[in-house]
Amino acid sequence: MIADSFGRIHDYLRISLTDNCNFRCFYCMPEESYDFSPASKLMQTDEILRLAEIFVAQGVKKIRLTGGEPLVRKDAPAIISALGKLPVELVITTNGTRIAELLPVFKEAGIKSINVSLDTLQQDKFMLITRRDVFQQVRSNIELLLSENITVKINMVVMKGLNDNEILDFIAWTRDQPLQIRFIEFMPFSGNKWTSNKMFSLQEILNRVAEQYTVIPLEGSLHDTAKHFKIPGHKGSFAIISTMTAPFCSTCNRMRLTADGKLKNCLFSDGEMDLLGPLRNQQDVLPLIKACIWSKKKELGGQLKSHFEELDADRINNRTMISIGG
Ligand code: GTP
Ligand code: 5AD
Ligand code: SF4
Repeated sequence: MIADSFGRIHDYLRISLTDNCNFRCFYCMPEESYDFSPASKLMQTDEILRLAEIFVAQGVKKIRLTGGEPLVRKDAPAIISALGKLPVELVITTNGTRIAELLPVFKEAGIKSINVSLDTLQQDKFMLITRRDVFQQVRSNIELLLSENITVKINMVVMKGLNDNEILDFIAWTRDQPLQIRFIEFMPFSGNKWTSNKMFSLQEILNRVAEQYTVIPLEGSLHDTAKHFKIPGHKGSFAIISTMTAPFCSTCNRMRLTADGKLKNCLFSDGEMDLLGPLRNQQDVLPLIKACIWSKKKELGGQLKSHFEELDADRINNRTMISIGG
């Protein structure tokens, strides 16, 4: 069992497969320049598997593969197949471009749920945000997943003045499709030029939806990142991930393994514990894992104060989002 000093049991591991991505979203990576990690610095397939087995033996029940974009890694199919054999729920967060080609691998590995990042339903805005012209490809891949009865959650990072005017369009999408749309408060990471006035809060999102719909709050499960809601008559539902205005740290069960093999005990932690080096040196990494999680701070990595309005993203001592994996 892996626990922190506040008694939170950690049984959900997010593994970043790569810090590379085929998109260039400004809110996730610095616009100026970003050097992707060289392959030699990344965990190899067998190292990912060995670390995952250690976590699973300690009670981890859910593994989420993240990136960058996890599916741009050439050996992603081999990693997914290997992890699929472990007694865990295996899930993925992806930008949705490589779903069609990997669908047989997902099915064989028993993946039942995929989270797809999609911040706009407009082709030109998609291009503006991602700097790639593949909106239709992502849309058709989402439809493919639905036709295969795979649970799809759409991650939509809401940014004021950029896409908050599409909240109701996303809600309309849930009328006939069994999708869960997750509106996410924009969070500050190194190099992403976050300011509080670019954020669209939980309350603002709810107010916007209530302009047109009756909103019914739903019971969530204990470790949810999201608060859930339903609109009568809609096949799908929506949820809000409110890290900034209503954090959910008290029930946090998440650990993060970066693509270069460092363990982060919180999305906002400044410190990290190298596991890959010791693993390569035949060292026992379990005490390192336990120590890292034990030292986890109570809320938001101890970094963000309640006065986050004052916060300047550049002062946040953390990695870029693309090298954490969300
Ligand atoms: P489910 O397992 O389907 O609930 O997904 P998830 O929310 O755990 O993961 P996903 O990768 O889809 O992330 C969606 C959003 O939630 C992203 O913006 C993440 O950065 C954010 N998120 C995920 N885990 C955490 C967390 O532990 N803390 C905070 N503050 N945000 C998180
Ligand atoms: N704030 C909130 N969510 C973010 N994501 C990426 N960058 C940010 C940010 N600055 C989301 C992506 C992806 C998930 C892993 O994290 O939309 O779906
Ligand atoms: Fe957990 Fe940190 Fe996220 Fe809070 S901010 S829910 S402590 S990972």
